[in-house]
Amino acid sequence: MTGGAAAAQAFYGRWARLYDWLARYTPGIGGLRDRAAAALDLERGDTVVEMGCGTGANLPYLRERVGPEGTVVGLDYTRGMLARAQRLVDANSWDNVHLVHGDATQTPFCGDIDAVLSTFVSGMLSDPAGEVEEWCDMVGPDGTVVLVDAALSERAIAKPINALFRALTVLSTPPTFKFRYEESMHDKLLERVTDARDALRSRARATHHEEHVLGIVRVTGGRV
Ligand SMILES: C[S@@+](CC[C@H](N)C(=O)[O-])C[C@H]1O[C@@H](n2cnc3c(N)ncnc32)[C@H](O)[C@@H]1O
Repeated sequence: MTGGAAAAQAFYGRWARLYDWLARYTPGIGGLRDRAAAALDLERGDTVVEMGCGTGANLPYLRERVGPEGTVVGLDYTRGMLARAQRLVDANSWDNVHLVHGDATQTPFCGDIDAVLSTFVSGMLSDPAGEVEEWCDMVGPDGTVVLVDAALSERAIAKPINALFRALTVLSTPPTFKFRYEESMHDKLLERVTDARDALRSRARATHHEEHVLGIVRVTGGRV
């Protein structure tokens, strides 16, 4: 495991409870998660994998779309985050929602997967384009991949909200991440998010793109 991955797991493990609250109750977040699930274009009975599912805030939206006859798999490498997700699964007695402890960069799944979702994870990957390529291979022809990410907006009108976003990302980045204190941190984040999105666009035959919060939050979907 890299130092960055260990730091991220320690950080998210410690803050899982607060993260869970923010992941569910931040204004507008529920609508965003619903739109991301819609962009996956799932049918009842489908199998969908969420990479870096965290505390499981997307799981209700995914479960609703695939129905009780479908399958939802949430993968994350932070046990504290997965424990929160497991509480949600248990509370709802969802027997077709499975949680897996593992690394999204190790291509841990094969078989009949219809769709992959990743929300607020691409910026944490050292090779986001490479991972998106793997996820496209995983779903195969006709499968869908949807990425949701936040990074600095390139719109001129977004200056004040960019300032708020800078402050929030510093606070929500593991302190042991070297780039937390570097001016280039936000450029790096934007570069990773853009690389992930470009990789998906280059593999997809049809794409979907939405921007929210003055261009800070991007939803990009593609059918492979
Ligand atoms: C910002 S949180 C997002 C959680 C969730 N997707 C959401 O929208 O609320 C990032 C999550 O990705 C997980 N993560 C980051 N890199 C990962 C990797 N390579 N493999 C598995 N999980 C990863 C972290 O443990 C954390 O739970």
